[in-house]
Amino acid sequence: MSDPMSNNHAKSLSPQTDSMGAQALLEGLVTSAENQFALSLQVNGKAISVHVSPDTALVDLLRQTLGLTGTNQGCDTAQCGACTTLVDGQAIKSCNVLALQMQGRSVTTIEGLVFLEASTEHHFKVSHDSILDQQLTSGKPSTLNNHLHIMQQAFLDHGALQCGYCTPGMIMRAVSLVDEKIPIDPHAIAHALGGNLCRCTGYSGIVLAVMQGLRVLRNEVES
Ligand code: FES
Ligand code: FES
Repeated sequence: MSDPMSNNHAKSLSPQTDSMGAQALLEGLVTSAENQFALSLQVNGKAISVHVSPDTALVDLLRQTLGLTGTNQGCDTAQCGACTTLVDGQAIKSCNVLALQMQGRSVTTIEGLVFLEASTEHHFKVSHDSILDQQLTSGKPSTLNNHLHIMQQAFLDHGALQCGYCTPGMIMRAVSLVDEKIPIDPHAIAHALGGNLCRCTGYSGIVLAVMQGLRVLRNEVES
């Protein structure tokens, strides 16, 4: 995420800037670049404490600091939905929020999805050890004994992906629909997925997959 102030700093430089002034400005920029703030949050069920810059986006915290690269990064302008994650159960485009806004909140990424399960109230809870602990101890990728979350399995059943770039964000958005009062019909689902773009599939398989996943997660049919 760019710092809108940085251009202003650049424009303030002129040939008349004396060396002491330039040095002070440089020191100010260096101090700003090193400015880090403490942040505590939960990521995939694990308590995390890190230091981040004020302009660090959530997607950069996830991908670059925590190594959770399942959250993809596309447009970086809140248009494509590739970066969608769950924050306290709601779908959020992680390129469009600052990491520091996550203080005290619970973030779930595609890597942690398999460790969530629906309660009878359709809320989600961590049901296993966190994915971060699993990755640290086993070095294995995000699935647990090849088990998939119900929505991931639905995407697989319907072949609802081709290149897969949109898929993690699409699945996270789909999971967030469990608690939203959206009827399970193709038009309503397509509308609800409007913020997540797919260049490959034509959406029909995705819509069918989300309908299947929602029926199971809302306990309307057996898995
Ligand atoms: S990368 Fe966040 S919406 Fe496109
Ligand atoms: S499967 Fe390629 S962008 Fe959706």
